[in-house]
Amino acid sequence: MGFSKKHILGMEFLSSADISTILDTADNMKEISERPIKKVPTLRGKTIILFFYEPSTRTRLSFDIAAKRLSADSIALAAGGSSMVKGETLIDTARNLAAMKPDIIVLRHSSSGAPHLISRHVNASVVNAGDGMHEHPSQALLDLMTVRSAKGRLSGLKIAIIGDIAHSRVARSNIIGFTKMGAEVVVAGPPTMLPKGIETLGAKVTFKLETAIADADVIIMLRIQKERQAAFLFPSEREYARLYGLSREKLKAARPDVLIMHPGPINRGLEIAPDVADGPHSLILDQVTNGVALRMALFFLLVGGSRNAGD
Ligand code: CP
Repeated sequence: MGFSKKHILGMEFLSSADISTILDTADNMKEISERPIKKVPTLRGKTIILFFYEPSTRTRLSFDIAAKRLSADSIALAAGGSSMVKGETLIDTARNLAAMKPDIIVLRHSSSGAPHLISRHVNASVVNAGDGMHEHPSQALLDLMTVRSAKGRLSGLKIAIIGDIAHSRVARSNIIGFTKMGAEVVVAGPPTMLPKGIETLGAKVTFKLETAIADADVIIMLRIQKERQAAFLFPSEREYARLYGLSREKLKAARPDVLIMHPGPINRGLEIAPDVADGPHSLILDQVTNGVALRMALFFLLVGGSRNAGD
């Protein structure tokens, strides 16, 4: 199997072999969630701290469920309930968490690089659960898992990523991950939402949704991140939905077997129409299901030792 990484900080630090090992392990983990008793003793005695400095539904719960399905002890800490509200710094907080001897710290933070920073001050493995506008590696890995499972391969596929690329850590991690695995990535959005230099990550760029989706195998729609935009980067939401929202009408320009994904949460009617999000092409809830298995795989590979996955 061969996985030697101590931390999961970003897709940029994973090789294609690392990614294949993670996806293979996650495929094996998936079956545990189908059992009547969804629990194995693999990580009994391990302690996992989930420190979420930003809101989260899918990522936080699936990391927590993943820990529990592997019998690890997981403890969730939100920034609002921590002593950071009294002025304690992130490094001091991390050093105090580390003093309690956790095996893994999962961190979501609004600042790019926060997980990298704490990884230099703790002995535990650190997993980046989303840092600012930088990376969201576990989301990219579950997206890769979902596409590989549906299509049987990643190499040679065309992936279209549409929307607010500038503020999306998911887009950045997905561009790196899909291109490392031999897929072609094209990004589309209004010029104000396409950051300069995004091509250097390996993506092609277009301003037209129709051009991006024309021969795509997979379309990944992104949430408009209003909380990270000082002002809405488009004249109106209605105009954005008309030009960049994925509707059934626009889908006519795509392949009949195209798959549609979205990391969530969804702005229904803005970046994606409800009947497309819930329609036959959609893998959005498969992404959530796979997120649990993928995060079980990460915990297992980081601290699972010599046991077999699924034991
Ligand atoms: N995809 C994702 O990160 O969702 P949450 O913000 O709900 O965790």
